[in-house]
Amino acid sequence: MRVKRSLLILVILALVGVFALSACSAPATPTQEPPPPQEEKPTPPPAEEAMQGEKELEIFSWWTAGGEADGLNAMFEIFKKKYPDVEIVNATVAGGAGSNAKAVLATRMQSGNPPDSFQVHAGHELIDTWVVADKMEPVTDIFKENGWLDVFPKDLIDIISYEGEIWTVPVNIHRSNVLWYNKDIFEKNGLEPPKNLDEFFTVADALKAAGVTPLALGDNGVWADNHLFESILLGVMGPEKYKGLWTGETDWKGPEVKQALEIFAKMMDYVNEDHSALSWDQAAQMVIDGDAAMNIMGDWVAGYYTSLDLEPGKDYGWTPSPGTDGVFLMLSDSFGLPKGAPHPVNARRWLEVCGSKEGQDAFNPLKGSIPARTDGDRELYNSYLQAAMDAFASNPIVPSFTHGAAASEGWVTGISDAMSLFVADLNVDEAQNNLYQACVNAGVCSE
Ligand code: GAL
Repeated sequence: MRVKRSLLILVILALVGVFALSACSAPATPTQEPPPPQEEKPTPPPAEEAMQGEKELEIFSWWTAGGEADGLNAMFEIFKKKYPDVEIVNATVAGGAGSNAKAVLATRMQSGNPPDSFQVHAGHELIDTWVVADKMEPVTDIFKENGWLDVFPKDLIDIISYEGEIWTVPVNIHRSNVLWYNKDIFEKNGLEPPKNLDEFFTVADALKAAGVTPLALGDNGVWADNHLFESILLGVMGPEKYKGLWTGETDWKGPEVKQALEIFAKMMDYVNEDHSALSWDQAAQMVIDGDAAMNIMGDWVAGYYTSLDLEPGKDYGWTPSPGTDGVFLMLSDSFGLPKGAPHPVNARRWLEVCGSKEGQDAFNPLKGSIPARTDGDRELYNSYLQAAMDAFASNPIVPSFTHGAAASEGWVTGISDAMSLFVADLNVDEAQNNLYQACVNAGVCSE
C-alpha cells in the first residue's frame, strides 16, 4: 500500500514537472491573454483569440508613384471596409523596381522585424531569396480554401511554388516590353512607331533631326538600364533564345548578346542628357510633356498615365518595344506571409483581399496591370489593358529578369553591376564578359 502511494506521488510530481516545463518553454507573445476564470464562457479557440487581439496590419512595398500608390490604396479601402478596427500601416520605400525597398526589407527580415506582408516578384526573387532561406509561411491553404487553384493560371502558380507548397498571392501581371510614345510628335513628323530595332534608329534619327529627344530614359536606378536591356535582348534574339539565357542554353558570350549591347550603346546617343538624374515616372512624364518622343518601360507607365487622367490611344500611344511584337515579357507582383509576422491573422486577411476578384479588379485598372486571376472583369480595364489581356492570353510568355521572374537577386545584382559600368563607359566587350561572369557566379554558366 505504502509502495503504491509513493508511486502515485512520484507520478503526480512528474506530471507537475512536465506541465511546468512546457509552460516555461511556451513563447510569450504580446497577443497572448491570461486564461479566463473558470466560471466565464468557454475559452475561444486560439485563432479567434488572436483575431480579437490584432489591431494592426503593416504592408511593405515600393509603390509610391502615381498609379501604383492608387492601386494599393484601392486594396486598402477594401480591407478597411471588411475590418474597420484594423489600422493599416503603409510601409513604403520609394524607388522604382524596389531598388531601395529590397535592401530595407532584407535588413528587417535579418533582424527579425518582418512586416506583416511584403511585395515580392513572383519567380526567382521570391523562391531563391525568401522561400529557400526558410523565411516564409506557405499559403497553399488560402488558395485551397478560396478555390484559387482554378482561377490563377497554372504557369503562374508554378513559379510561386516550391516543394509542394504555394508561397505568395500574385496580385497582377505586368508587361515589361512596351514602348510609349507621344502621338502628336509622331504625327507632326509623319512618323510611325518603330516595329523593330532598325526602324527604331531610322525614326530616332528623324526625330533628332527635328530637334526632339527620341528616347526618354530615367535611370537614376540601374534597374531602368536593365529594363531597357531586357527589351533589347528580346528584340534581338526572340523568345526562345531569350529564355535560354536564364537556363544556360543561350551563350552569354554569343553574337546576339554582343549585338544587344551594341544597340544599347547606340541608343545612349538618343536619350535625354539628364537621364541619370530621373526616375521612371519622370521619364514617362517627358513623353507626355513633349520633351521626348518615346519611352521603353513596363506598363506601370499606363497606371501612371491613368493617374494623370490620360487615355491610351488618345493622349498617348503604345506599341510592343521594337522587335518584340507577339511576345509578352512578363512579371508579377505578389504578397506573402513572412515567418514571425507580428499580425499573421490580419496578414492572411490581407492576402485574401489580394487574391480576390474584387481586390484585383480594384487594384489593376489603376496600377496599369492586368489581373493575375483569369476571371477579371474586362469592362473595368482601359483599351491598353484590354490589349495586354489579349496578348497575355495568346503570346508566348517570357520572364523579366529585371523584375525578379527570370533570375535570382544575386544574379540580377551581378547584371546590375555590369550595366552600371557599361552605361558609364559603353565598352561592349567588357560588359559582355561581365555579364557572362555574372552568369557563372550565379552557377548557371560554366567557366
Ligand atoms: C516593378 C514592379 C511594378 C512597379 C515598378 C516600378 O518592379 O513590379 O509593380 O512598381 O517596379 O516601381
